[in-house]
Order: sequence, then C-alpha cells, then structure tokens
Amino acid sequence: EKIKESSTFIKNFLDTTRIEHPDLEYPTILIICGSGLGGIASRISSDTFSIAQAYAEIPYFKTSTVPGHVGRFLFGKMNGTSVVLMEGRLHSYEGYAIQDTVFPLRVLHELGTIKTVIIKNAAGGLNRDFKACDLMCINDHINLPGLAGLHPLKGPNFEEYGPRFLPLSDAYDLELRKLLFKKMNDLNLPRTLHEGIYAFVSGPTFESRAESRMLHIMGADAVGMSTVPEVIVARHCGWKVLALSLITNVSVLDSTPKVTDHNPAAMDEGVASHTEVLENGKIASKDVERLIEAVVGDI
Ligand code: 6GU
Repeated sequence: EKIKESSTFIKNFLDTTRIEHPDLEYPTILIICGSGLGGIASRISSDTFSIAQAYAEIPYFKTSTVPGHVGRFLFGKMNGTSVVLMEGRLHSYEGYAIQDTVFPLRVLHELGTIKTVIIKNAAGGLNRDFKACDLMCINDHINLPGLAGLHPLKGPNFEEYGPRFLPLSDAYDLELRKLLFKKMNDLNLPRTLHEGIYAFVSGPTFESRAESRMLHIMGADAVGMSTVPEVIVARHCGWKVLALSLITNVSVLDSTPKVTDHNPAAMDEGVASHTEVLENGKIASKDVERLIEAVVGDI
C-alpha cells in the first residue's frame, strides 16, 4: 500500500508536469548514482529538460543522510532516451533496514516503463591490478549481509513483483557489459576499465586489513557499501542491470605490522578516508558520466 501511494504521487507529479512539458515521458532507464556522481544530472538537463522531485516530498520516502548524496529524482532525456536519475541513495549503515533502502526501486517499478537500471558506486580496490580512479564493470557479487540474513527479499514475497526464489547467476547482463566496454573503447577515455566481483558489506567502517584480505581470498575484486540490494530488487522487478564501480582507493592487504617484527612498517599507509573517496570520485566522474551517457544512447 505504501508503494502504491508513493507511486501514485510520482505518477501525478509526472502527469501534471507533462501539461507544461509535453516531451516528458515515463522513464525506461533508471540511473542510480552514489558519492560524487552528481554531475551526471547536467547530462540530463543539457539534453532537453529535467524535472526534479525531492524525496522529502514523496510519501514514505526517506532521505539520504550522507554528504555528497542529494536526495531527489531527476526525470528527463539523456542522449534521446527518457531516464530517471536517483540522485542520492539510501544505505543500510544510515540505520535503514535493507528492505527500506530499496523502497524507491519498488515505487519506480510501479510506473511500469523501466526496463534497465544502471548503477554506479564508489568502491575500494582489492584486486592488486586496480589503481585509484580505475573503473570496474561488475560481473558478479558477494552479498555478505545477505548470506547472513540481511536480505532485501527477506519476508513475504509478492508474486506480482517476482519469484520467491530468484536466481542471481545471470544478474549482470552480458550484452550491457559488452556495450560498456565498447563505449569505453569508442570514447577512448584515459582510464582503465576492469571487470570483476563486487563484495557488498554493510559499513559504515572501512575494512580492517584482515577483512580486506578475507574478501580478497574469497575472490572479490572490489568492496563497497551499496548496489547489491538494488541489483537484487531490480532483478526481482525483471529489469536488466548494468553496474559500475569507481575504484576510489586501494585497500590495504598487507598484514598488520607486529611490534615484534624486526622493522615494523608504518601503520598509517593506505588508510581509507571518505575525503579520498570523494576526491577520487570527482577526478574520474566526468569520464564515468560520459560513459553512462554513451551507453544510455545505445540501449
Ligand atoms: Cl575501501 N570499503 C568500502 N566498504 N566501501 C568503500 C571503500 C572501501 N572505498 C569506497 N567505498
């Protein structure tokens, strides 16, 4: 009922706004951007127009509390396609139940027009080939909170949304991944695009050295605090998923220096910080925005 009420609000908003902007269509692509990708909004408004709807005004919507997350939907055209951009997302570390962090996706699903979601996040690099400001196309994930019972589909299943037992072996669409690599090549961006596995952790702490090593041994290439719940719900809605990590920092995998080591290494090397995450996010975000815009034009 809450989902229905929120989606009715958004439908009314779109239908009313369309009186003045006859070009405004219901979106076919949802773009979710996290820390430092606010600039993608300009890729919408520069095209034709953009219409903002603040989360705070929508019934039952919660607002993101993280610096760098705006908290609104932008509806408009990007590269000729009608999109909705979620500027700001909810994280479980803010105190929301995992099920609540994906509420906006359920609401947008009610519009009935979205077919694809493009998700971007900031992540720590576990793979030793990764450098800060590299990109990683996610091809699989490890849902640590989910495996332990903190799962967005936990609870009664609504068959009208999707199946009780959702397969995830095909979660990251191969054709969209190919398209991302093709566009990276076409645009000739001065950045490396890797492909790999994203480990979802709840945060808000960055990993300890031992935790980073554990995730690396498990096979994860990058680690972050978002995206996987959204991917799962998107798949439950039947949407195709493209997910992209911006590697904002490389995680420390060396074991902790011991007092008894002959020559203990410095403890302060490679310490992760939100400032670093935001700064490197800013450096690479222009390229990520161009890449996403190019992909959107070809979907
Ligand atoms: Cl190093 N860890 C996590 N959990 N999230 C991140 C990150 C690291 N860097 C950016 N986001």
